[in-house]
Amino acid sequence: MEKLRIEGGHALTGTVAVGGAKNAALPALAATLLTDAEVRLHNVPAVRDVDTTCRLLDQLGVEVSRPAPGVVVTRGRGATGSEAAYDLVKTMRASFLVLGPLLARTGRARVSLPGGCAIGARPVDRHLAALEEMGAELHLEDGYVEARCDRLRGAEIAFDIPTVGGTENCMMAATLAEGTTTLRNAAREPEINDLAALLTTLGARIEGAGSHTITIHGVEELGGGTHHVIPDRIEAGTYLVAGALLGNELELTHCVTEHLQTAVDRVRASGAQIVTDSDRIVVSRGELHPVDVRTQPYPGFPTDMQAQFMVLMTQAVGSAVIRETIFENRFMHVPELHRMGADITIDGHNALVRGPTPLSAAHVMATDLRASASLVLAGLVAEGETVIDRLYHLDRGYENLEQKLATVGARVERFRE
Ligand code: EPZ
Repeated sequence: MEKLRIEGGHALTGTVAVGGAKNAALPALAATLLTDAEVRLHNVPAVRDVDTTCRLLDQLGVEVSRPAPGVVVTRGRGATGSEAAYDLVKTMRASFLVLGPLLARTGRARVSLPGGCAIGARPVDRHLAALEEMGAELHLEDGYVEARCDRLRGAEIAFDIPTVGGTENCMMAATLAEGTTTLRNAAREPEINDLAALLTTLGARIEGAGSHTITIHGVEELGGGTHHVIPDRIEAGTYLVAGALLGNELELTHCVTEHLQTAVDRVRASGAQIVTDSDRIVVSRGELHPVDVRTQPYPGFPTDMQAQFMVLMTQAVGSAVIRETIFENRFMHVPELHRMGADITIDGHNALVRGPTPLSAAHVMATDLRASASLVLAGLVAEGETVIDRLYHLDRGYENLEQKLATVGARVERFRE
């Protein structure tokens, strides 16, 4: 079992290059099911969820090659497959994003329901209701969605919550539907914009991506093309917090600062010294004071930054309230942080963080992707040597995390036990 060993207390100085966004790369890969032509994706992060999705595409009959670091090339072979099996979908919810493209391209799909995960039930009811409005016949059996349609038809769809995955599944499905689809109360995350840019490159006709209302005019078929995946705003935000904790001019490059502006604003408000350009952030530790945050859909404070920001607040002088509004169980990192000496009280969706508390090293266990990132941040600050177990959670979404941290002065190594 691989583990991380971190010796805390070392300042972070130097440059970290931010990689491609996992949450943009995964829908982009699903979108390649919409065409048999060659699609070339660049800046794809080397993370486990990308590996899993490439395996799923191969099972679905797509020819996938990875000719160089960050590059994935796909070519459809008629999308011969139509089943996304439970053993893959259960490990990665984003596999559910193949439903819309498979339905649009082949008229049939059998996709396992994703089931819950550590951070919540995470149902897909909005995805299914929207696809039914587009003419899909759906049947739930043995934990799978059996979906059929002759040809999807354009529809007026209003989401009651701005679901990221629901918006992505429906936007992809609508590209080949007959007629026009309007998605109201659509998600506005940068990853939605990036997916729309890829689909447009392939020949889709999409207006309004990035706003609350997206209009997709169906076309007969899509072609190929090349797309550069946007930088990962959550990876950038994670290193931003590391710099706020221990930075001495820690520089983040290759990011889109605007995509994490709310996180930058809240970390700066806590007292960190931050200088930004459009694609670069330099952060240094400052006298930290408490800042309340509540997670919200983009452009609000990202739920994927909640666990990381909580570690920062353990070092602030005073009490901060962190409110998680997106997921019903996204405080799994708290018990592990308690074991390192953090003073955090949970009351429903609110976490009260009292600081500053000196953190002490411990053997801790990751429970989900962003919780594991928060344990790394806590280990960087803690007195002593922290060991983090269940690294597969971390490896799902962070490329070369220990190498990037070691390059800027952290004492961190991966080992087997
Ligand atoms: C995406 O998940 C991201 N994953 C998540 O990042 C991120 O936390 C989330 O968006 C919110 O920003 C990917 O992009 C691969 P949602 P997704 O549909 O699409 C409920 C990470 O750490 N909901 O916007 O699943 C759902 O239960 C991951 O990188 C329904 O009830 O998010 C959740 O409470 C974690 N029914 C809330 O809405 C539905 O049909 C937000 O879900 C759909 C969603």
